[in-house]
Amino acid sequence: MTSTEKRYYIQTFGCQMNERDTEVLSGILKKMGYQKTADMEEADIILFNTCCVREKAENKVLSHLGELRELKSKNPDLIIGVCGCMVQQKGMAETIRRSAPHVELLFGTHNIHQLPDLIENILASRNPQISIWDSEGEIRENLPSEREFPFKALVNITYGCNNFCTYCIVPYVRGRERSRQPEHIIEEITSLAADGVIEVMLLGQNVNSYGKDFKDIAIDFADLLKMVNNIEGIKRIRYMTSHPRDFSDKLITTIAQCNKVCKHFHLPVQAGSNKILERMNRGYTRETYLQLVKKIRQYHPDAVITTDIIVGFPGETEEDFAETLKLVEEVRFDGAFTFIYSTRAGTPAAEFKNQVPPEVKKERIQRLNDLIGKIGYEINLKYLNKKVDVLVEGPSKTNSDMLTGKTDGNKTVIFPGDSSYTGKIIPVLITEPQTWILKGKIEE
Ligand code: SAH
Ligand code: SF4
Ligand code: F3S
Repeated sequence: MTSTEKRYYIQTFGCQMNERDTEVLSGILKKMGYQKTADMEEADIILFNTCCVREKAENKVLSHLGELRELKSKNPDLIIGVCGCMVQQKGMAETIRRSAPHVELLFGTHNIHQLPDLIENILASRNPQISIWDSEGEIRENLPSEREFPFKALVNITYGCNNFCTYCIVPYVRGRERSRQPEHIIEEITSLAADGVIEVMLLGQNVNSYGKDFKDIAIDFADLLKMVNNIEGIKRIRYMTSHPRDFSDKLITTIAQCNKVCKHFHLPVQAGSNKILERMNRGYTRETYLQLVKKIRQYHPDAVITTDIIVGFPGETEEDFAETLKLVEEVRFDGAFTFIYSTRAGTPAAEFKNQVPPEVKKERIQRLNDLIGKIGYEINLKYLNKKVDVLVEGPSKTNSDMLTGKTDGNKTVIFPGDSSYTGKIIPVLITEPQTWILKGKIEE
């Protein structure tokens, strides 16, 4: 590297939406002549792409920002920027400016395409730049992008969310739901396949409502899956996230007809008590959720089913929580992301009475995790001495002699091997199932 080369560093917090946005930010910066660096200390631009879904995520950003103060004083030309969901909250940009004046660049989730102008303005005038739009504007196509993996890709299909679950901040920071035109999605995936991508993950806060906002064309998520399934070169199709309320029978049967669509069903249930589900505004009951799981298993007996669960939602009694545990036992999830309810200012649930004390929440999540771990282990034991197809992602982070990859059902598999297998789908024999991973060896 020459000393005149400018470098950028991006730290991403939060979900796949942010990971995808980071790829676009990277693409824009590359086009402007910046090179990526993994070392913050040598960067000319540092961006934090933030998440605010829970308080913990926010606190993490704020404490990291404090640490950058010193870098800025050593290198006054350094541009420090904060973008993503956190800065979309009312007043947050000003709060960050006040507590961290070394942050000179703030832009929202609808302003990513403006990055070149904002940087140019700072370089020309050294005036702080803040650009945050309340409403979303049109979908920007053809922004540059720098993918994280050569063999798999994230593809947006919808932006925003209209569901307004009462605990959730996402609709406020990501705006209303907008679907991308199908031809843009198909075009993008076709060119990804030509570029060597074999797995795509279709992204939306609620992929099942894809197309509902189109006025001139009639297309739904199942139709879109069929179209993607026909794209040559693509071997695996995933999607994130499904809303149980909108998971139609048509979608279940379509997935059965689409050989490339992975049989992994991530169906966030959030709670097992009907009273809590109603207060969360989820739009389904425990009975309809269980019915959905039953139907999915009818068509896909080998389905891997995972979920998200929140404990300690306002008003959750011990009886309500027992309903959640009971539901977990009835469904027998392969795995679950579990969260302690976090109050988000501006959401309806923040105003609800009967907030659950922190120690009760902690005790509940522990019991829930124990149960989920126990069931997950029992399910994983069934993989012993079975052969699974694994898409190899590369060396394991904890042991570079081992490779890590994913099954069709999204289970992590760890096995000895060299990195020449990276990006390939290979058969692996499972020799040691564990609670969160499967260990195995390559089956030649
Ligand atoms: N659109 C997706 C993902 C939303 S965020 C969906 O509807 O499933 C991912 C998960 O974070 C949610 O499923 C929920 O379980 C959790 N979550 C969202 N807001 C939360 C809050 N205020 N406190 C705790 N967990 C929350
Ligand atoms: Fe949040 Fe609910 Fe939308 Fe998911 S569906 S992003 S939980 S409001
Ligand atoms: Fe994702 Fe966090 Fe935003 S979960 S949509 S990055 S608030």
